[in-house]
Amino acid sequence: MSKTTLFILPVLFLVCLSCTKQMNDPIETKIDALISKMTLKEKIGQMNQLTGMGLHLDMRNQIKAANVGSILNETNPKIINELQKIAVTQTRLGIPLVFARDVIHGFKTIFPIPLGQSCSWNPEIVEDAARIAAVEATSTGIRWTFAPMIDITRDPRWGRIAESCGEDPYLTSVMGVAMVKGFQSNKLSNATSMAACTKHFVGYGATEAGKDYNATIIPETQMRDIFLPSFKAAVDAGVATTMCAFNDVNGVPASGNVYLNRTLLRTEWKFDGVMVSDWNSIAQMKVQGVCASMEDAAKLASDAAVDMDMMGMAYIDSLETCVKSGRISEKQIDESVRNVLRLKFRLGLFDNPYVKIEPKLPFYSETAIAKAKQIAIESAVLLKNNNQILPISEKIKSVAVIGPMSDAPADQLGTWVMDGEPAHSITPLMAIRKEYGSKLKIFAEQGLTYSRDINPAGIAKAMTIARKADVILYFAGEEAILSGEAHCRADISLPGAQSELLNQLRKLGKPIVTIFMAGRPLTIEKELDQSDAVIYAFHGGTMAGSALADLIFGKAVPSGKLTVTFPRMVGQIPVYYSHRNSGRPGHNIVLMNDIKIGAEQTSLGNTSYHLDAGDKPLFPFGFGMSYTTFSYSPVKLSKNKISDNEIITAECTITNTGKVTGMEVAQLYICDPIATLAQPVRELKGFQKIVLNPGQSKTVKFNLNIKQLGFWHQDNTYKAEPGEFRVWISADSQTGGYKSFNFTD
Ligand code: NOJ
Repeated sequence: MSKTTLFILPVLFLVCLSCTKQMNDPIETKIDALISKMTLKEKIGQMNQLTGMGLHLDMRNQIKAANVGSILNETNPKIINELQKIAVTQTRLGIPLVFARDVIHGFKTIFPIPLGQSCSWNPEIVEDAARIAAVEATSTGIRWTFAPMIDITRDPRWGRIAESCGEDPYLTSVMGVAMVKGFQSNKLSNATSMAACTKHFVGYGATEAGKDYNATIIPETQMRDIFLPSFKAAVDAGVATTMCAFNDVNGVPASGNVYLNRTLLRTEWKFDGVMVSDWNSIAQMKVQGVCASMEDAAKLASDAAVDMDMMGMAYIDSLETCVKSGRISEKQIDESVRNVLRLKFRLGLFDNPYVKIEPKLPFYSETAIAKAKQIAIESAVLLKNNNQILPISEKIKSVAVIGPMSDAPADQLGTWVMDGEPAHSITPLMAIRKEYGSKLKIFAEQGLTYSRDINPAGIAKAMTIARKADVILYFAGEEAILSGEAHCRADISLPGAQSELLNQLRKLGKPIVTIFMAGRPLTIEKELDQSDAVIYAFHGGTMAGSALADLIFGKAVPSGKLTVTFPRMVGQIPVYYSHRNSGRPGHNIVLMNDIKIGAEQTSLGNTSYHLDAGDKPLFPFGFGMSYTTFSYSPVKLSKNKISDNEIITAECTITNTGKVTGMEVAQLYICDPIATLAQPVRELKGFQKIVLNPGQSKTVKFNLNIKQLGFWHQDNTYKAEPGEFRVWISADSQTGGYKSFNFTD
């Protein structure tokens, strides 16, 4: 039997199995029965999602007329039940509505922004956070969240980097699956389960110039190697829904991308959940320049297997005409309605359409608050700690708490907190005062009242208190509104007069600990130099302040590691660890100011770097320090060659060589140094977060198989190529030595 047949037979078997599974599923029988009774108009109504915000558009009458399948942004449980009652009791077929909301990193209890959460490299707590968010949100009747966002992005200018898990496809896949599991739990019909929605399908993170909604250019092999794996992992984990993106991919808008949405997602991956459009993204295909009319847009989106139109009116206004004029078949409409009804059956909405309103809603439980603090602790990344200034020693008698983020309850929550309440935030100042107020003198003055503030009077005030303290704690960063959807920046340096304030503080000659709370990596090279220690905390959520106080004073030990590369300056973007080598990788670096005046041009010895930035980022992917130190033994491989179905084990012993217990994230990277398509210099394939007491050693082991070594080829096949493979187990994406093995065909 040929190799191809050997491959095709199991695939065919799996396809048949999944068809039979669906044919025998009682839900499918119920869907058939329901669809057979539905008029075309009722079917199209199921494909329409309206916003409940302000209950405009005469919502009640729209529901009564069977024009609505889902409502987003209604969070009042009483109104949710009232609207549901209209759908269930006053429409001909009584099909329940499904209520949706952007529950991105918490509902009431807010966890760190997803970018921060990913820096914990701890999928268990990420899953717990999503579970808590689901428990809180479902208590109001919301059963569908538009999360996780699993776009891969390598551009910190893009405001939505805050919502992502960073630059790496593998890490994003692991975190995305953890979030899907947390939201959906083990059974979608549980009252506290929410349908998750992976978004944005697909390629949104490659948006040109880091500017929102922009075009993307993504070659097919990169699409499959970089942007699709996180979505595939979520489909395999049973994600119930997905949302298509605003951007185009090589000129084809995601909302009308027949190849990606239908051929790949539906046919190749067998996704049987709902694909919802993004807000008005179907109608926007007219502006994008591929559809002349609303009817064309509706037809294209339906052809591209988009089941539901979010707040666009394209479907409700035009699909009927498309069917009646024969432009699309009713069978195509049925496929979408089938997906929508399947979601509603899976959520158990036909049996339990109403939310049970408890006298006390389960918000801010003790468990939720403790988890929010734990995640905020594990998300923070220690980037610098000269002379072990951190944790603050007991000998220190006074601290000055300064900076616009030191007491900013709303801003520390970050972007996409539609329901979070700043009144519940514990800010750094609040936590430091409460926990350490009796032990040391605390002087507090924000100096700048918000991150963009440039008022010099504030700087003067801050200087007055800074003079009195032994150590300065400077909380800098970005307001929440400076990141997130449509909040992109071309200059990602510290806004306002924050750099100037630090400049002034530095002149006092006192130790300075700078804590950044932001929605993205900022360009902080100068501030890094001016600080003795730096913690990068992103926007840490409700408990950010408590978490940071614990880290600063040593009750907790930092363990976060970056999931996105930090550029020195904007001009380096895109800068990411898994780049390919040029023919002349950067070395012999001579920076601009070192070039002799009048130097002649030469083509000898030239390598790939920027004259003003060199060829290294400020911090690489995977980097993060601790209050202790770890040593890594050389990597050991279980064999030096493998063939097709074999597994190779890589191991390494890690020792805590410092004085406190700490957590370390051991990262497994591989490289295929010679391949028919140039491959990344390193690629993450696994990681383990371990706890080590002082002096303790642990051996981490990773299994690698051929499937993990392959890449997508230009003929659209995925395979590993015979030859050398390099393996690292290291503390970040730049350090460590590798061992090689051979893959023999
Ligand atoms: C637009 C955003 O792109 C998407 O992520 C979000 O879920 C929807 N609006 C709904 O608010």
